[in-house]
Amino acid sequence: MNNNLLELIQKYDTQGPRYTSYPTVPHWNQPFLAQDYQKKLRALQKKESQTLALYTHIPFCEEKCYFCACNVVITRKKEQADLYLKYVKKELALLVPFLAASPVTQIHWGGGTPTYLSCEQMEDLFHEYEKYFSISPSAEISLELDPRVTSYEQLKTLRHLGFNRVSMGVQDFDPKVQEAIHRHQTEEQTQKAYAWCRELGFSSVNMDFVYGLPFQTRDSFEKNLRTIVALGPDRLAFYNYAHVPWHVPYQKLIPEHALPTAHLKVELFESALSIFKEAQYLPIGLDHFAKSNDELIRAFETRTLRRNFMGYTTQKDSLLLAFGVSSISDVDDVYSQNFRKLSDYYRALDEDKWPVMKGHVLSPDDRLRRHVIMELMCALELSIPRVEKQFLISFSETFSKELLALKRMSEEGFLTMDSQKISVTELGRIFLRNICMVFDAYLSKEVLSSSKQYSRTI
Ligand SMILES: C[S@@+](CC[C@H](N)C(=O)[O-])C[C@H]1O[C@@H](n2cnc3c(N)ncnc32)[C@H](O)[C@@H]1O
Ligand code: SF4
Repeated sequence: MNNNLLELIQKYDTQGPRYTSYPTVPHWNQPFLAQDYQKKLRALQKKESQTLALYTHIPFCEEKCYFCACNVVITRKKEQADLYLKYVKKELALLVPFLAASPVTQIHWGGGTPTYLSCEQMEDLFHEYEKYFSISPSAEISLELDPRVTSYEQLKTLRHLGFNRVSMGVQDFDPKVQEAIHRHQTEEQTQKAYAWCRELGFSSVNMDFVYGLPFQTRDSFEKNLRTIVALGPDRLAFYNYAHVPWHVPYQKLIPEHALPTAHLKVELFESALSIFKEAQYLPIGLDHFAKSNDELIRAFETRTLRRNFMGYTTQKDSLLLAFGVSSISDVDDVYSQNFRKLSDYYRALDEDKWPVMKGHVLSPDDRLRRHVIMELMCALELSIPRVEKQFLISFSETFSKELLALKRMSEEGFLTMDSQKISVTELGRIFLRNICMVFDAYLSKEVLSSSKQYSRTI
């Protein structure tokens, strides 16, 4: 155990965003009108050579995992999904007059649990997409699945529709941890779903893990990691448990006394790094790993990796159109989020209104800072001359305060910098959020020390 690392983590331990957007959602400006979003879409209709990414949120799960911070609706009434899809289709139809003929290069269904849908419901939704959009033959088409509720028939249907990637939730194999987080998932269930995905020829399989869960011990956790590595998914998401009970009331059911100490969390993190490295999984950005021959690694090496609300992607600067409750669209310099509650989402659509709850129109300063933060999150490096050229600024003048803060971080060993570039070091990867936060104009010092909106470094 590296004591110096523990000290640094304690020193820099603060709540911070994961930067799937900049500004982050809590700082979006008000009032934001659906018209802002429509205006942007209309302007983009004329733009050639752009591509589209489509996200659909399927919020349903049969049971609530107590740790989960996703926007979910817990129900076993499958007919609820029929009603929901009816509204998603209505939302899609509202957008049609604004759509450009651009090809769709990425489709993702997230949740909740998209495999809550029956085969017929999945076909119905996908065919609706095909009706309106031209889906590129090489599109990346993926979804999140829960091995506990996913059948071979569903996977076969998805493959038939053209889905080529999956991401499955695992979290932890240990029954004691599973009991505490209220998620009972046998190793056999995970193995079976994984084997089906391989048999059906999905080209990429990701697995989600969480560290920092109650009752995790170094031994149980290493056992987990070895099981996963033996299975051999292409990608691994390795999330730091975000314990935010003030924001997610279910998390009050998590036994706080059993949460790992900061010291143990660092140990878990270090053992994951070393086991992944040994198994030839390379780290990507914040909390993802991929096999050394995976295209995410190639994109990282060629500086073409991107990050959006769906996570890291190889798809270059597509417009992200999102459907369904709480989903977030990202179109050039406009972010827009749908209502988070089903009842509000349904009501807006019943009134033939766009179900937009809030959003943000980026200012020139937002655009500059977004570029800097996303470069650091994706490439772990920032070319200063390139930023100066693209945004017509003097970096040292615009970011004089930020450079002072970065200097302190460079003394800690988190980064190196000169007049040409800023590069995040191996150690600095762990503090990537802290580095990016330096450029976040919305986080004042007071906010940083008191905010309860985000999760912690480790
Ligand atoms: C939509 S779920 C995955 C699909 C499916 N519902 C399942 O659980 O298998 C998204 C992922 O977010 C991660 N996640 C959810 N809540 C989290 C939290 N509080 N802290 C860290 N990761 C979290 C989990 O790893 C989870 O697998
Ligand atoms: S982890 Fe997955 S299955 Fe569990 S509540 Fe969250 S979205 Fe639903």
